[in-house]
Amino acid sequence: MIELRNIVKRFNNGTASETVAIDHLNLTLQEGDFITVIGGNGAGKSTLINIIAGSFPADEGMILLNNNDVSKMHEYQRAQYFGRVFQDPMVGTATDMTVIENLALAYGRGKTRSLFRWSYRPSDVEFFVNELKTLGLGLEDRLYQKVGLLSGGQRQALTLLMATIRSEPSYNKVKRDYVRFFDGDKKLAKQEIDAAFKQAFDEFKASKKEVLESGLNKEEKKAKIKELKNVLDKKLRQYDVTKPVLLLDEHTAALDPKTAEKVLETTDRIVKENNLTTIMITHNMKDAIKYGNRLIMMSKGKVVADIAGEEKKKLTIETLLDMFVTNSKNDMLADSAIFGD
Ligand SMILES: Nc1ncnc2c1ncn2[C@@H]1O[C@H](COP(=O)(O)OP(=O)(O)O)[C@@H](O)[C@H]1O
Ligand SMILES: [Mg+2]
Repeated sequence: MIELRNIVKRFNNGTASETVAIDHLNLTLQEGDFITVIGGNGAGKSTLINIIAGSFPADEGMILLNNNDVSKMHEYQRAQYFGRVFQDPMVGTATDMTVIENLALAYGRGKTRSLFRWSYRPSDVEFFVNELKTLGLGLEDRLYQKVGLLSGGQRQALTLLMATIRSEPSYNKVKRDYVRFFDGDKKLAKQEIDAAFKQAFDEFKASKKEVLESGLNKEEKKAKIKELKNVLDKKLRQYDVTKPVLLLDEHTAALDPKTAEKVLETTDRIVKENNLTTIMITHNMKDAIKYGNRLIMMSKGKVVADIAGEEKKKLTIETLLDMFVTNSKNDMLADSAIFGD
């Protein structure tokens, strides 16, 4: 869960050009929320995402990630909990590195003390190839090409993948983060998670012993133990509170309509498959209606409309436009927002 409390962000403080980009904004995202954000130019949409990711601090207010104040956490620290895709396809990937090196870099995110973070094991290659195949852009055949040679759409899709894949964190990291983000007595949280892990491991060991002492043949035993390991892993990963939150800032705006649609569909699939909490800024009302379970409209640094669930499903461009005119009279709206791309 992410909670923004009373966030204020001003630019050019105390000068004639002082701007209040975010104005006492409150917003709570539940786990798995997919929020689309619309609003005119300068409404504060990008600033909102920048503040969540920690690109710059807010002047006032608090950002809570699973009930923990992350306002003071550095951007590079926060980066392990957020995946971002920007409007510009040139940002977000390393041009001089190959497709597979970029993926390896993203995959290693969250692994501490890895010296060669762009290195990868042969067993990773198969995983990367399968992930790339799901994009349907033929990138799996271009593993060893430099990213600079890819089209805008291919790069955005790759960035999207990079923002959402990561190797599973070590069990120690799962435990550490569980305590770190626990809302309440941390000592108790530590005892609780230590006990839960110990129990799971003990159960695993006991079952493994049973298998080893059974009359099964070698191959059967191996298969059974692998199964047990999977069960153990699933049990322990339930405590992983650090799935990345996806932050998308008009990430398809620079693409041609057909490619944009493809990248949006990929986005939707990745979000749903992983139940990722997502904020997607879009200039396109049609897309804002089509995707996500909740839509917010921003104007002058505030949330002026917040529509979720059934009500969101019933939204039409016309009602959204009416709402826009009522709530943000002086905001500029790009034509593309009304007419689509
Ligand atoms: N780095 C910055 N320096 C000065 N002003 C900024 C900066 N970033 C944004 N702003 C101002 O803050 C307001 C909100 O901008 P932004 O969040 O980019 O809006 P949006 O993404 O909704 O178009 C605008 O008035 C913009 O000019
Ligand atoms: Mg913007």
